[in-house]
Amino acid sequence: MDKLIVEGGYKLKGSLNISGSKNASLPILAASLLTDEPVRISRVPDVSDTNYMLQILSQLGASVERSSGTVRIENADGISSSASYEQVRKMRASICLLGPMLARMKRCTLPLPGGCVIGDRPVDLHVRAVQALGARVRVKGGNLHIEAPNGLVGTTVDMRGDNGPTVLGTDNLMMAAVLARGTTVIESAAREPEVVDLANFLNKMGARIEGAGSRTITVHGVESLHGCEHTVIPDRIEAGTFMVAGAMISEGLTLNRVCREHLKAITEMLLECGHKVEFFNDGESVFVQPGANPRSGKINTAPYPGFPTDMQAQMTALFAITPGISVVRDSIFPQRFMHCSELKRMGANIRVDSGTAVITGVDGLSAAPVMASDLRASAALVLAALAAEGTTEIHRLYHIDRGYEMLDEKLLSIGAHVKRVPDVEAGSVEA
Ligand code: EPU
Repeated sequence: MDKLIVEGGYKLKGSLNISGSKNASLPILAASLLTDEPVRISRVPDVSDTNYMLQILSQLGASVERSSGTVRIENADGISSSASYEQVRKMRASICLLGPMLARMKRCTLPLPGGCVIGDRPVDLHVRAVQALGARVRVKGGNLHIEAPNGLVGTTVDMRGDNGPTVLGTDNLMMAAVLARGTTVIESAAREPEVVDLANFLNKMGARIEGAGSRTITVHGVESLHGCEHTVIPDRIEAGTFMVAGAMISEGLTLNRVCREHLKAITEMLLECGHKVEFFNDGESVFVQPGANPRSGKINTAPYPGFPTDMQAQMTALFAITPGISVVRDSIFPQRFMHCSELKRMGANIRVDSGTAVITGVDGLSAAPVMASDLRASAALVLAALAAEGTTEIHRLYHIDRGYEMLDEKLLSIGAHVKRVPDVEAGSVEA
């Protein structure tokens, strides 16, 4: 287990390339199960979550080859319809195997994912979706046992939950419906760019999906799917994280391989807070610089195109050193505020109450040993450490390795003083 040592106070400068999207890659890799022909997927980030997914696929019987960002997967006959708890417990997103396993094998056994530090994370909407297509679902021994011996049948399904639409639930329903008999209409579908990327991938495989990116997605079932090649979209959350770094502590940072359209909410927020954000190169590059008079802000997370929950922790780090009072409310994951107590140990003034953080900007943060609690919380701690005075040690770095490709190398390339070292105390910390 590693920790990251960050010497704060060095201004970042220069440029870097944003990786392919982790959250688009995961369901796309899972969707490879829908055909027995080979698929080739490029710009899959080399992060532990995509590695877990590839491990699960090969344990299910797929042949997986990976070289420099491109993955070739072939799921010939003999794919197992059952994944073990050991295989899937490391990654909650393994729930997105449900749709493709059920569609391909007409049955599947998948361990129920537990909650996680950002909240309860139920899967009732995933279950409701496949039941609507005619599958029978039983829960036994912590596993979901799902079967549809006569195949799935298209229908209209409303995917809205109490906290809005579900991203992976929409993905699962789309993947289950592509090989169903008849037409499936997904109402209240998630509109995230990652859902659109999955739909584009499935259509390249021969699926007939219309409307991805809107509230209603229509899937006309087909007999079978074939192999294809696909390039994953840029990671908008990695891009957003580095944009916040550019606004917090830089002489100007250029990020390449981004998609302007996917970054609208983050861009608007940084502009409102007085920072400079300029896109060029047809919206595929962005320059970010701290504003001379930064202002506090107000965020309420919302499904796309609203402000992403996956970016609120990073913005909280920025607000911690922005004059005035900022308010961050997470209506998607109201418990996602673990980073705040660690930021407070670095001198931030934050009060968290009922899914809302009220942040009173301070003049500066000071280094402290801190503990990463989840992926985006760790990103917030790294941002805070870059801006803090002194040397911060961030423990439990494995959280950040789940979703940020070569974070330390990228930071070093833009002038940060960071070092990854083995965490000899980690054993006792974990205990
Ligand atoms: N929900 C339900 N029932 C369900 C499913 C979800 O009530 O069956 C609720 C959730 O509890 C939450 C809301 O619906 O309140 C939205 O959750 P969603 O299902 O959209 O989350 P997800 O699909 O499991 C993906 C991302 C998350 C991101 C969320 C929200 C992947 C692999 N994960 O999760 O990303 O926060 O959408 O945008 O795509 C991250 O990358 O750090 C991360 C956590």
